[in-house]
Amino acid sequence: MPTRHVTVTVCRGCCCGSSVKHPDVDHDGTLTVLTHAVESSRCGVVRVVNCLDECERSDVVAVRRRQPAGAEVIWLGPLNAPLDVAVLGDWLRRGAVDDLPARLAPMVFTKRPPRPPIAVRHERGEEESLVCPALRPALERAQAADEPDVAQ
Ligand code: FES
Repeated sequence: MPTRHVTVTVCRGCCCGSSVKHPDVDHDGTLTVLTHAVESSRCGVVRVVNCLDECERSDVVAVRRRQPAGAEVIWLGPLNAPLDVAVLGDWLRRGAVDDLPARLAPMVFTKRPPRPPIAVRHERGEEESLVCPALRPALERAQAADEPDVAQ
């Protein structure tokens, strides 16, 4: 009987999973690949969560796995390329027991310490808007594209 020693946390907040910020990414497809991989190996569970406060690295996925020396959390981002998703899926399908595939190493990062939620930072005047700063440029581009061309 395989052990359930892995938790795959898939961020789907303001930036991760956003078709505004990442219009060319198949976010549903990514979730499907990772979910099927974990289910087929029976190595753990997949959960979808709101913003993990690492928007600059969207899309973010965290893999927590039990190791003999204790739990390990591998933070990955940006995980957007289909081949990267497939490689992660293959690793999860094998139970995530061996080393993380070398292809994924460049996207491993150390999670920043927890910060207050963006709404709290906004109230304190620490954020100029409730819109995630990392998402703002993409929103501005989308708004500009929607505006009529005044030169005509
Ligand atoms: S939306 Fe994923 S880290 Fe913010």
